[in-house]
Amino acid sequence: MDNCGQAAADAAAGDLVGRRIVLGLTGGIACYKSAELCRLLVKQGAGVQVVMTEAAERFITPVTMQALSNRPVYGSQWDAREPNNMPHINLSREADAVLIAPCSADFIARLAQGRADELLSLLCLARPAARVPLLIAPAMNREMWLHPATQRNMAQLAADGAVLLGVGSGPQACGETGDGRMLEPAEIVEDLVAHLSPKPLAGQRVLVTAGPTFEAIDPVRGITNLSSGKMGFAIARAAREAGAEVVLVAGPVSLATPRGVQRVDIRSARELLLAVEQQVDAATVFIATAAVADWRPAQAAGQKIKKDGSGQVPALDFVENPDVLARVAQSERARAGALYCVGFAAESESLLAHAQAKRRRKGVPLLVGNIGPATFGQDHNVLLLVDEQGVRELPRASKLALARQLVAEIGARLP
Ligand code: CTP
Repeated sequence: MDNCGQAAADAAAGDLVGRRIVLGLTGGIACYKSAELCRLLVKQGAGVQVVMTEAAERFITPVTMQALSNRPVYGSQWDAREPNNMPHINLSREADAVLIAPCSADFIARLAQGRADELLSLLCLARPAARVPLLIAPAMNREMWLHPATQRNMAQLAADGAVLLGVGSGPQACGETGDGRMLEPAEIVEDLVAHLSPKPLAGQRVLVTAGPTFEAIDPVRGITNLSSGKMGFAIARAAREAGAEVVLVAGPVSLATPRGVQRVDIRSARELLLAVEQQVDAATVFIATAAVADWRPAQAAGQKIKKDGSGQVPALDFVENPDVLARVAQSERARAGALYCVGFAAESESLLAHAQAKRRRKGVPLLVGNIGPATFGQDHNVLLLVDEQGVRELPRASKLALARQLVAEIGARLP
């Protein structure tokens, strides 16, 4: 498939296809971000019904939100467009989730009290809570956020079953700096998708390694490889979506940390080993996607190596790096079945034969093969799953789609 065809196929398979989301806006300057949020939700395939409070309409117009959602916006509980005149019932029963973004301090207080004197709070109260989750993306000044009343109300909402998405930190519209900014639209979408995902890894603690390593030759040079880290980051995201607690040990890459994932940055293979040793005892699943350098210069020079004009090239001696996956796979917990290990093989040819041999050599129950040069840096991949039962190909798809399939496969193999 060419790139355009692939892009179209991915859009048709958006993360929220068939989902119906009520997007509630309450009064706050972050309403300007809700236009982008609405656009992203639609782009992921969701049907979006916007509901705005009177205060929200002071910040952004229903015209904008109608144009982006392609549906008339609701703002009043007396809206006569509904034949039964009950928009709070109809809208909440048609929804798969209610997402309030931005959610003001005042609206949080209203929800905590169970108020119902305008459409959005009425709809939240009337929703079938067991089936329709309520997700809250607060936005307010940092003092309002820190105020005990707000924190008390937030605790009440959590106790009542709402999903609190947290806030961002940084410069605020009021000129102050601190906690209380609304999360970025892409972060909110990532959290919503995760919340609505199946949970085959619920209760699991997953440790993922990702990206290349960098082995220093001197303070300005080193040996690395073309791994982009995208597959490992996608797996960390998919594992979090699937309900696991996730730690991601990442080599030098400039990728954003997936939401809800704890990240530990490393550079060399030995740092990778150290980070893994510190985390692995708490893990129940270990997924090694990192492209670890097999060798490192025996001695990194303390100062930059200079040309001496003689035309002589410096001689580099190498020593072998620790094989992190093999060590973990040989640990007592792994051999006892308390830690499920998954290896990756980046090959340039004879994928199946190499993957089968590598699985035996590393002593892992599941080995995932891919063609390194064809996938490094790309957004798409093909995976070959090799385990004791045989071989299964996951055909070409986005790395995130493959990561989700792989996570489901892992979930199905756990004791
Ligand atoms: N791996 C590791 N530590 C190493 C080398 C590899 O943890 N020092 C892990 C990788 O993260 C991957 C798997 O082992 O999950 C296989 O990595 P790969 O580089 O394909 O295999 P190698 O063991 O290096 O074998 P070869 O170079 O012969 O292909």
